Amino acid sequence: MKIIGTGRAHPSQVVTNAMLEQFLDTSDEWIKTRTGMSERRVISSEKLEDLASEAAAKAIEDAGLTAADIDYIICSNVVNEYITPGLSCIIQGAIGAKCACVDVNAACSGFIYALDMADDRIKSGKAKNILVVAAEEPTRMVDWKDRSLCVLFGDGAGAVVVTEGEGLICSRLTTVSKTDCLHYVRRLEPTPYITKEEHSAPMYMNGKEVFKTAVLSSSRDIKTLLSEAGLQPSDIKYYVLHQANMRIIEAIANWLKLDMSHFPTNVERCGNTSSASTALLLDELSREGKLQKGDKILLSAFGAGFTTGACIIEWTK
Ligand code: ACO
Repeated sequence: MKIIGTGRAHPSQVVTNAMLEQFLDTSDEWIKTRTGMSERRVISSEKLEDLASEAAAKAIEDAGLTAADIDYIICSNVVNEYITPGLSCIIQGAIGAKCACVDVNAACSGFIYALDMADDRIKSGKAKNILVVAAEEPTRMVDWKDRSLCVLFGDGAGAVVVTEGEGLICSRLTTVSKTDCLHYVRRLEPTPYITKEEHSAPMYMNGKEVFKTAVLSSSRDIKTLLSEAGLQPSDIKYYVLHQANMRIIEAIANWLKLDMSHFPTNVERCGNTSSASTALLLDELSREGKLQKGDKILLSAFGAGFTTGACIIEWTK
C-alpha cells in the first residue's frame, strides 16, 4: 500500500500547564521537565466521532477521492462514548461511505496495526482504497484528581487514505500479555448471575515501568526494521514516534546517535493522544510540506497490552 491522503482534527479546548496548576498540586516546571508538554487539546463540547469524521473527510479530500471510493474503513480506538457499534461504523455514516468497517484496539500502537491490516487487505485484492483513522480520547480514562496521570493526555483524531502501491517497506508488530502496569477497567451491567466482585477504576499506569519498557521495545523495533530494510539510522528522514513523553523520544534519538531534527514532535502541544499521535504528526508533516517523494519515514509506537508496532514507509505522494 501507499499513503495518498492525510487529515486530522483537534478538540477546540486548549488546556495549558498553568490551567492545571489551578486545581492540581503540580507546576508548569514539573510537567515540562518530566514530559516536555506545555499544553494539550481536550474534548469538551465535541464528540470524538465528530473529530474522527472530520479527520477522515480531510484525508479523503487530500487523496482526491470521495467517500464513495472508499471500500474499507479501519478505526484504531480504545474508548469512545459507544461500546458498540464500533467508531468506524459511526464514521462511515457521517462521511457517507458505504463500505465494510472494523475497529481495532491495540492501544497506542493501534494506528500502526491498522496500517498493517490495510496493507494485508490491499495485497489480498479485497480492497483498493482504505480509510485508516486513529481517534482517541484518553482524557476520559483518567482520574482528573490524580496529578500523576491527568496531566499527560490529550485527545484528537488523525486519518490516512491508502491505496495500492509500494509505500510500505516493512513492518513489525509485537504483543506481550502484560496487564499489570497499564490498564483501564470498566464495570459492565450486572446480571442475576454475576457473583464475582467487580469494580470500575480510572486508568492505572506504572509510569516508570512503562517508560523503561517503551524505550527498550521501541529501540529494538527500530533496530530490527532498519536491518531488515538494509538502512542506516540517518537514511530515515523522520522518526514519527508515539508522542508519549519527550524524554522517551530523546532517549531513542540519543541511542540512534541522531539529532532531534529527525524527530518531529507534537507532544508539547497535544500531550499523549494514544494511537492518534503518530497519525496527527504524519498529517502535520505532510501539510507543512516537510515530506518529499522518496523520503523514508519510520513510525514506532508502544502501548497497553503490551503492544508495539513499527513500520518504515516511503513517501510517494
Ligand atoms: N506534578 C508534580 N509532581 C508530580 C506530578 C505532577 N503532575 N506527578 C507526579 N508527581 C510527583 C510524584 O508524586 C513523585 O513524588 P515523590 O518523589 O514525592 O513520590 C515525583 O513527582 C516523581 O514521580 P515519578 O513518577 O517518579 O516521575 P517520573 O520521572 O517517572 O515521571 C512520568 C512520570 C512522566 C509518568 C514518566 O514515568 C513517564 O512518562 N512514563 C511513561 C509513560 C508513558 O509513556 N505512557 C504512554 C504509554 S500509555 C499510553 O500511551 C496510553
